[in-house]
Amino acid sequence: MKIQWYPGHMTKAIRNMQEDIKVIDLIIEMVDARAPLATRNPDVDKLGQNKGRIIVLNKADMADEKCNKEWKDYFNSQGYECMYMDSRKKADMRELMACIDRASAEKRERDKKKGIINRPVRAMVAGIPNVGKSTLINTIAGKSAAKTGNKPGVTKGNQWIRLNKQIELLDTPGILWPKFEDEHVGEMIAYIGSVNDLIVNTSELAECLGKWLMVNKADSLKTYFKNEDQQDISIDSSDYHKLIDAICASRGCLKPGGEYDYDKAENILINDFRSGRLGRVSLERA
Ligand code: G4P
Repeated sequence: MKIQWYPGHMTKAIRNMQEDIKVIDLIIEMVDARAPLATRNPDVDKLGQNKGRIIVLNKADMADEKCNKEWKDYFNSQGYECMYMDSRKKADMRELMACIDRASAEKRERDKKKGIINRPVRAMVAGIPNVGKSTLINTIAGKSAAKTGNKPGVTKGNQWIRLNKQIELLDTPGILWPKFEDEHVGEMIAYIGSVNDLIVNTSELAECLGKWLMVNKADSLKTYFKNEDQQDISIDSSDYHKLIDAICASRGCLKPGGEYDYDKAENILINDFRSGRLGRVSLERA
């Protein structure tokens, strides 16, 4: 399924980030733990060359636990600081602070040699839409964080948040990139709700997702969508329509005349996946 979404405000946002990067020491690159490669923005990666980097695998509570560990090892083996988290949880922020400390050690050392002491680390929080950037900032900053004004040389609009004397964060808008070379990357980004649903054909998206789940997570589907007798449904991975029929039966998706309401069933499939109700699902393996 071909998906493309790159509205004008994203072009502007990346240009602003190219300016802002000059005063940044570190990028906190947020990705979705369910699809950590698909949700890495190559433009953000390019922007972050020669800067410190932390890769945050967010929404780890919705991804397979074993895969989370494998992805962390994968990114560590590539030389990145990496952690997985549920950005709604305050407890996960302690580890993030430790990551920031490690990832900025070189910068502090350089500052010290130049006689600069106590200059805060400036970290940019970046990632595609809906990956949890605002949630992370709200959780880490809490009420105590002082929102600071614009800095010289930094584009207006993005918010600086001073966490403490050592760390300042720069909030940035969610951005995608102009073209998904691999169609499956676009699909995964749409499954998790990071492209505007209005530009996506819901039936096609549900069919792609349903077919993937039938092959890779048949057990979750069987137990989650029971049939009318509350028995597990049978999954025939070559017959997507049977799955949609089963969802209609299980959830009572009926039109006024009594026929199955497929639109409703398709939305249920997508929303239940997105909200984690189908269980932990990792779309990519390390
Ligand atoms: P963004 O700034 O990157 O666009 O993302 P944002 O923080 O707005 O988060 C998008 C949605 O993801 C929000 O849900 C948020 O609560 C949820 N979320 C963020 N981090 C996590 C996480 O680690 N685990 C889980 N399970 N969910 C997370 P929403 O339904 O759009 O909004 P709300 O009703 O929760 O406010």
